[in-house]
Amino acid sequence: MEQRKVILSGVTPSGILTIGHLTGALTNWVKLQNEYDCYYMIADLHAITAKQTPAELRKRTLDTAAMFIASGIDPVNSTLFIQSHVPEHSQLTWVLNTFTGMGECSRMTQFKDKSRQHSENINVGLFTYPVLMAADILLYQADLVPVGEDQKQHLELTRNLAQRFNHNYSDTFKVPEPYIPEIGARIMSLQEPEKKMSKSDPIQGSIIFLTDTDEQIVGKIKRAVTDSGSEVIFDEENKPGVANLMTLYHIATGKSMSEIESEFAGKGYGDFKSQVGDSVAEFISPIRDRYNELIANKDELAKILISGGEKARHTALRTLRKVYKKVGFVQF
Ligand code: TRP
Repeated sequence: MEQRKVILSGVTPSGILTIGHLTGALTNWVKLQNEYDCYYMIADLHAITAKQTPAELRKRTLDTAAMFIASGIDPVNSTLFIQSHVPEHSQLTWVLNTFTGMGECSRMTQFKDKSRQHSENINVGLFTYPVLMAADILLYQADLVPVGEDQKQHLELTRNLAQRFNHNYSDTFKVPEPYIPEIGARIMSLQEPEKKMSKSDPIQGSIIFLTDTDEQIVGKIKRAVTDSGSEVIFDEENKPGVANLMTLYHIATGKSMSEIESEFAGKGYGDFKSQVGDSVAEFISPIRDRYNELIANKDELAKILISGGEKARHTALRTLRKVYKKVGFVQF
C-alpha cells in the first residue's frame, strides 16, 4: 500500500471555538482526514507562554479536544492528542534550540507583537515558541502543515531548521510545505462586520460560539448589524453586515449567493435574519449536542486522548531517537 502523506496541525487552547474556526480550519481538517495521515494537536505547551489559570487551561484543553471530535475529526482515522502528553516535543525543542540563532527568533513578527502586547511577561518560552512549533512538525515528518497566514513565518523557520539539521548530519527530517487551503469563507464580527470574528472580542454579541444554544444564535443574528438599505444583495464593500449574514446562510444551507439573493428579493431584513438564525442554529446544533455529550462523559474523551497520545508518541519517539543518535548522545 502506498504510504499516505502526513499532515500535522495544532490549535492553542485559548478560548471557546467559534463558527469561524469551523469554517476556517476544522471543516478543512475533517476533509483532509480521508486523504492524509493526519495528526491534530492541542498545543498546551504553547499556551503557557502566556499567563494561564491552571484550572482554566485544563478545561479549555479538554473543551477544544471535544469540539474537534464534535466537528468531525475522527480519532480512529486521525491522531488527536494533547501536546504535553508527548514529551518528545520538549526534548526535540531543546536540540533544535541549539541550532537556532537568537536573531532568527527575534525577527519573528508574532514574537514582536506579543512582546509589545504583554510587555510584563516577555519570557524565554515566548521567544522560543517557533522552535517548539518546528519540533511539533518535524517529529512527525509532516509533508504538509495547514496554517493561517499568521503562522507562515514560523513554518519558514521550521523549513530552515530541518534543512540545517539535514545538512549538518544527514537526511533526518522531512522538509514540510505550508498547506494553504482554498480560501474558506471568512466570518466577520456580527457587530462590527469590517472586523474578523474573533473569540477574544469583548463584545459577546459579535461572536457565534459553537457552544451557543439555538436561542442564543437566533438572538445574536437578530441583533446583528446590517446597514441602512433593505435589499439582500452580496456586496462586501458597501454592505458588509448583510454580506456576512449571507455567508453564514451559505455555510449553513449550501445555497449560492445568487440563490440567496433571489430567495429574499422583495423581503426585508427581518425575514432574512430570522431565516439565517434558524438555519445557522440547525447547522450548529448537532455539533453542540455531540460536544455536550463528550464533556458530560469525560471517560470517553480521556480514552480517545490517551490512545491518540500513545499513537503520536510512537511516531515521535522514532524521530527523536534518530536525532539523539546523530547529535552524539549515548544510547544503550
Ligand atoms: N502556533 C499555532 C497557532 O497559534 C498553533 C500550533 C502549535 C501549530 N504547533 C503547531 C500549528 C504546529 C501548526 C503546526 O495557531
